Amino acid sequence: MKMTLSVIKADVGSIGGHIKPSAQLMKTVRDHIEANGTRKGLLIDSYISSTGDDIAILMTHTRGRLNEDIHRLAWNAFVAGTKVAKEQGLYGAGQDLLKDAFSGNVKGLGPSVAEMEIEERPNEPFLFFAADKTEPGAYNLPLFLGFADIMHCPGLMLSPSMAKGFRFVIMDVNYTEGDRIIELCSPEDTYDIAALLRDNSRFVVESIWSRSTGDQAVVASTQRLHNIAGKYTGKDDPVMLVRVQAQFPATGEVLSPYSIGHYAAGTMRGSHVGPMMPCKLNTTISYFDGPVVVTCAAFCVRNGKLTEPADAFDHPYWDWVRQNVSLKATEIRRQGFSGPAMLHYEELEYGGIVEKMKKLEKRFVVREAAKEPVEVGN
Ligand code: F6R
Ligand code: MG
Ligand code: MG
Repeated sequence: MKMTLSVIKADVGSIGGHIKPSAQLMKTVRDHIEANGTRKGLLIDSYISSTGDDIAILMTHTRGRLNEDIHRLAWNAFVAGTKVAKEQGLYGAGQDLLKDAFSGNVKGLGPSVAEMEIEERPNEPFLFFAADKTEPGAYNLPLFLGFADIMHCPGLMLSPSMAKGFRFVIMDVNYTEGDRIIELCSPEDTYDIAALLRDNSRFVVESIWSRSTGDQAVVASTQRLHNIAGKYTGKDDPVMLVRVQAQFPATGEVLSPYSIGHYAAGTMRGSHVGPMMPCKLNTTISYFDGPVVVTCAAFCVRNGKLTEPADAFDHPYWDWVRQNVSLKATEIRRQGFSGPAMLHYEELEYGGIVEKMKKLEKRFVVREAAKEPVEVGN
């Protein structure tokens, strides 16, 4: 059966700053999807969750990608949520709904989207990732390691169905005139893939495909709010779907790189560097408006019907990882604004430094050589 998995995600307001959406806001979004999606037969199933201050609507249906009715449903759920967020005085009410009216699909309107149309396998396990206080490129390293590095993904050498490797579709998210993409294949293009993926703020993995079967394994959101709004309006907090097992990496291989707690852009004022912490579902935000949080809900799906989620990072092993990531978070914080601890100009969420530089530029002088103290020979 051909089936579409769609995730549409937005921050439409949260409690106590950027911590989490309120229960009433979550209920409003859930009720809207239930009443207008599932009960009307538009959706087969759905799962609504929060990660930090973001609400993600995961939907199964048969209408394909970028379907107007599906996208309008999610948009309207966020509009209904925004009304409640405003009534409750939540912080940043409606902040990711950058346009006044819905048109066609939510791409370019603010919410993030990750969708794939699949031919359902008899056993269809997949993972739904959501990250908060970071940018789409934050998934680059774990995807590279999970799909192209045998140290994390031994299936690349052990499993005949993965022997041919994977095709990476990578997007240049700085390009705003359309989708500027490049397709590269591991293993032969591995060094080129790495050369692009080192630059998380510009090159982002959009999708990954099996070279053995041609099937899609990964789709990640690539939306950048500042490209839409013309200025920074918040980090882009990416969502991602990953199909696992058989012709794809095993769940444990995809999860393995998250044990690193790699540094990514985000946290406080969307302007710093912090380690990514693999957290339990519905985790909130705390220390230094971070750390960068990622959650993973594992599902199986049959004829579009979802199982309950299994919380992939809810295990004693990940408690130990979280302790280590906390140390990494504290360590980089100890150097405050200096060097790699804070993002470079273009990625800062606030214009303060740019304004400051404009003023300071006027005060710079080039010292005249003649006025230098002349050294008298010894
Ligand atoms: C992401 C997020 C941050 C904020 C940033 C600035 O979920 O909430 O990227 O956008 O911390 O927010 P203000 O200036 O509203 O505190
Ligand atoms: Mg936010
Ligand atoms: Mg957020």
